Amino acid sequence: MSNASSNASSNASSTRSSGTAGAGSPSFAALGVPADLVAILARDGITSPTPIQAATLPDSLAGRDVLGRGRTGSGKTFAFLLPLVARLVESSLPATAKRPRALVLAPTRELVNQIHEALKPLAKAAGLTTQTVFGGVGQNPQVAGLRRGTDIVLACPGRLEDLISQGHCQLGSIEVTVLDEADHMADLGFLPGVRRILEKTPVESQRLLFSATLDNAIDVLVKRFLRNPVTHSADSAQSPVAKMDHHVLHLSREQRVPVLVDLASAPGRTVVFTRTKHGAKALARQLNKNGVPAVELHGNLSQNARVRNMDAFHAGQASTLVATDIAARGIHVDDVALVVHADPPAEHKAYLHRSGRTARAGAAGTVITLMTAEQVRDVRDLTRAAGIKPTITKVDTISHPILTTLAPGERVLVPGGLGVSTPEPAPRGSGGSGGGSGRSGGRGAGGAGGGTRRRRGGGTSSGGSGSSSQGGGQGGQGRGRGQGSGAAKPAGGPGGRSGAARRTGGSGQGGSSHSAASFSGRRG
Ligand SMILES: Nc1ncnc2c1ncn2[C@@H]1O[C@H](COP(=O)(O)OP(=O)(O)OP(=O)(O)O)[C@@H](O)[C@H]1O
Ligand SMILES: [Mg+2]
Repeated sequence: MSNASSNASSNASSTRSSGTAGAGSPSFAALGVPADLVAILARDGITSPTPIQAATLPDSLAGRDVLGRGRTGSGKTFAFLLPLVARLVESSLPATAKRPRALVLAPTRELVNQIHEALKPLAKAAGLTTQTVFGGVGQNPQVAGLRRGTDIVLACPGRLEDLISQGHCQLGSIEVTVLDEADHMADLGFLPGVRRILEKTPVESQRLLFSATLDNAIDVLVKRFLRNPVTHSADSAQSPVAKMDHHVLHLSREQRVPVLVDLASAPGRTVVFTRTKHGAKALARQLNKNGVPAVELHGNLSQNARVRNMDAFHAGQASTLVATDIAARGIHVDDVALVVHADPPAEHKAYLHRSGRTARAGAAGTVITLMTAEQVRDVRDLTRAAGIKPTITKVDTISHPILTTLAPGERVLVPGGLGVSTPEPAPRGSGGSGGGSGRSGGRGAGGAGGGTRRRRGGGTSSGGSGSSSQGGGQGGQGRGRGQGSGAAKPAGGPGGRSGAARRTGGSGQGGSSHSAASFSGRRG
C-alpha cells in the first residue's frame, strides 16, 4: 500500500501530483466541463471540484487514458462520469442497436445502480440513454434496452459477458470504458472477465481507471489496455481521510453483541461489517432481536431482498446495515456516522474501503474495530498496513464510557428491531415482506423528514433538494436526536421511523426508472 501510487504510476507515461487541488482550484467550467453539466451539478450544490476531479478532468476531458486515485468519498464518480458524458456529446455518434458507446464496469449491483443514479441527470441533459446490466434479475429488460440502442451501459462483468455471448451486445463501438474500483476489478475473481470485456473494446478507445487504492494489482490491465496513460493521485496513499477517527475496542467474545447493540442504538446511521455472509445474517438477526432496526446485505440474498434492504437503510427504516465486503466498495449512503468492523477485515485495503463508508465528502465519521484477544496481532498488522494509528481501548463492560464518547446520544431500542429485515434467501422474483411495514415510531420525533440533517458538531445542513431521487415520501434519515458539539454521530434531524415507513419500491430491474441505492441527497 505504501508504494501503491508509485507502482501504479510505474506503468504510466506521466504522473502528476495533485494533492493541493481543491480549495481555490479552478471551477468545473474552467476545467472544461460543458455548461449544461455544470448546471446539473450546481442544482445539487456541487459547485467546486474535489481534488481528484480537479486533477483528472483536464486529461480525461481531453480524451487521455487516466488512472485516478483519490480517497474514499472524494468524488471519483463524477470524476469519470463528467468526461464520459462530455466525450460522447462531443463525438455525437448515434446510439445503434446492441452497440453501446460507453461502458462503466463496477463490482456490485448496488454500485452499478448508484453510479446510474448519479449519471441519469447528466445523461438526460446530454440526450444520452443509459442501461444497467447485472445478474440476479431477468435479462429481458436489459436486452430490450440494448436492442433499442443505448449510449451508456453500466454493468457488472458477469451478466455483461452473458449478454455478449448471447449476441445481445457488442463492444466494437465503445468510445470510453470506465473501471470503477479498478484494483478490485483486477483481482483474481474479476480479472479474466474484465480482460475479455476490454479486449472487445476498440484499441483506440479511452480507458479511465479509478479507485481509492490503486496498487500493482492493476498493472496487468494498465500494460495491456492503457495507451500513454496519466496517473493522478489526489492524496498520498498513506494519508487517511481527514475527519475519520479510528478506534479499536479490545473486548471478549461475549461482549461483542452487547457492545454492538449499544453503539448501533445511538443516533445516526451505522454500517457493520462481518467477514462472512452467515455472520452478517446472524448479526442482523441479533441486532433486531435486541431492538436495533437492522438490515443485512450479502451475496446470499435474492436481488429483491438486496434492493429492499438497501432501500430501508437509505430511507431510515433501518438505522443499521450489517454487510459483508459486498458493501465495502463505493457504496454511498449519506451521513453514515459510524462504521464498525465487527470482524476485522482480511486485509488493509478492505479496511480502508469499508471504513470509507463514513466520513465522505468532507463529513466526519468514526470507525471502530472490535478486537478479541486472538485478533490483536491481525488488527495491529492491518491498521499498520493501512497507515492508521487507531486509539485502542479495553472494554470490559458495556457501561464503559468510551462507547458514549464514540457514539454519543440516547440509546433507543425498538422492540423486535425492524422485524422483517432478515428474510431467508428468497427464491428469485419473490416479493417477500415489505421492509419497515410493521413497526413505526421508536427513534426520532417522527415524520417530518425531508433531508435535513445534522453533521458532527451540530452544524445543520440542508439536503432537501437532493433527496427527491428516492421517490418522495421518505422520512428523512430516521434517527432523531442530534448531539451538540462533539457528537461523533450525526443525527437525522426530525425524521423519525414513523415517517419513513414506506418502501421506495425499487424493482431491482436496473431500468432507467429504478432508484435503489441512489444518493439520498448529494451533499449538504
Ligand atoms: N465536487 C463535489 N463537491 C461536493 N460534493 C461532491 C463533489 N463531487 C462529489 N460529491 C459528493 O461526494 C459524495 C461521494 O462521492 P463518490 O461516491 O463519488 O466518492 P468516491 O470517491 O467514489 O468514494 P469511494 O472510494 O468510496 O467509491 C457523493 O455524495 C457525491 O455526490
Ligand atoms: Mg466510488
